[in-house]
Amino acid sequence: MPARRPRAESFCIHEDAPSTADTEMNESAALQHDDEVDREDDVEDADGQESECSGSSEEETAETSRHIQDDMERLQDTFAGFRHKYRLIKRIGEGTFSTVYKAEDLQYDSYDNSWDLDREVEKWTPPPLRSFPSRSGASLGGHAPPRRRRPKYVAVKKIYVTSSPSRIYNELELLFDLRGCESVCPIITAFRATDQVVAILPYFRHADFREYFREMTVPDMAIYLRSLFAALRSVHSHNILHRDIKPTNFLYDPASRQGVLVDFGLAEREGYDCKPCACHDQRTREALRHRKIQIEGGYPREDTRPARRANRAGTRGFRAPEVLFKCTEQTTKIDIWSAGVILLTILSRRFPFFNSADDVEAMVEIATIFGSRRMQVAAGLHGCMLETSIPTIGKSGFSFEGIVLWSTSRGTDKEELSDDERLALDFLKRCMDLDPSRRISAEQALQHEFLQMGLESSVEGGSEAEEDDEMDMLKV
Ligand SMILES: Nc1ncnc2c1ncn2[C@@H]1O[C@H](COP(=O)(O)OP(=O)(O)OP(=O)(O)O)[C@@H](O)[C@H]1O
Ligand SMILES: [Mg+2]
Ligand SMILES: [Zn+2]
Repeated sequence: MPARRPRAESFCIHEDAPSTADTEMNESAALQHDDEVDREDDVEDADGQESECSGSSEEETAETSRHIQDDMERLQDTFAGFRHKYRLIKRIGEGTFSTVYKAEDLQYDSYDNSWDLDREVEKWTPPPLRSFPSRSGASLGGHAPPRRRRPKYVAVKKIYVTSSPSRIYNELELLFDLRGCESVCPIITAFRATDQVVAILPYFRHADFREYFREMTVPDMAIYLRSLFAALRSVHSHNILHRDIKPTNFLYDPASRQGVLVDFGLAEREGYDCKPCACHDQRTREALRHRKIQIEGGYPREDTRPARRANRAGTRGFRAPEVLFKCTEQTTKIDIWSAGVILLTILSRRFPFFNSADDVEAMVEIATIFGSRRMQVAAGLHGCMLETSIPTIGKSGFSFEGIVLWSTSRGTDKEELSDDERLALDFLKRCMDLDPSRRISAEQALQHEFLQMGLESSVEGGSEAEEDDEMDMLKV
């Protein structure tokens, strides 16, 4: 488990006995920062970026916030010395496996903060003023008052005690392995008190996907996905599958155009608990391509075969076809498919794009798009057979171009797609290839013309801006 490295002496929160000094220090520290904290929180709430659970009536809202308050109190009392280190501010997320709170890092200055990407900015201090008149008119003797640092925020992820210890350990260990990776949320530290574990992560400002995805232009999509694929490249280069790529696990701030991948609760190492699958066998692949393998219908009257077991963890609507076919040798390509679903969502302006209740429905949705012919070949790759008499599943399916045109209410004429959209659709097809071996990798994706969009012009733009600055300096 990662330990937070102190600047001066080593300190371990587990061994802290709760003391009045803790409480007193916490209160004074909280008072000190209150004005700035509230300002930032107000802005976020006004933007509607971080809505907390909202009830249907005022009474319900009061009830909910009392609950949240009680939970926060309990959490602060679970760990000795917690109040001394963090000031919980509000609940920012409630997922299947955890509740996440925003908190102020009260002891930021006592620790090594190499995880903090903003820390360089903080180092800048304005030059001392020659004279600084006070409100009463007296001079303060040539020095500006000491600048107060902006409060530093963290996200406190309280993992539900019902999660298995191995699962909790797995999440923390993978996060630790991935520290320092581009666009991946690092872990600062973690605490445990009996069965309760909390992970402390840097807080990332982000907006709700539903609030911005409809307004995204194609270049906006390229910037968003470049950040997501940079994270995937890092994760995959460590041979780790995230398994739960979806908009709520990619925290994106449209204002700064930066994103960060979170939630490694379902992540696993490639090859873990794997059995060889035909999809990795070159001969099976060739035979299928040349239709040498005859897929015949029929069902055994008494099926004595053991049930097929494979990891199907993930979120409905984002699961790759090989996950649905229970492939026993899944690879990092499952994340690429899910990232493709995000792009399809944005291009079609429909969220959620896939809306299945279970894996069978999910398969029907995918088969409707790709058609039964291609879907049967995809099933064959993993030693499965697919037979259907569902009337909406045609033999050839639909094209992504047609789907995007239809879902954005623009006729059927492909001429109506812009060049940028065509490029995005070309990229989409590479991400949503039914065959995981042919699907694009994160590394290759970052070289694709779509994800390169805007990069050249921004470099040129940068040098132009620098030249402008130089001109300004010359003028002075
Ligand atoms: N570092 C962070 N900074 C800001 N907000 C965060 C951070 N980590 C998590 N959150 C918020 O908390 C939510 C839930 O976090 P996370 O996905 O890690 O938990 P989870 O219980 O696995 O969720 P789910 O089951 O919904 O996927 C996120 O969608 C996000 O809104
Ligand atoms: Mg999540
Ligand atoms: Zn397979």
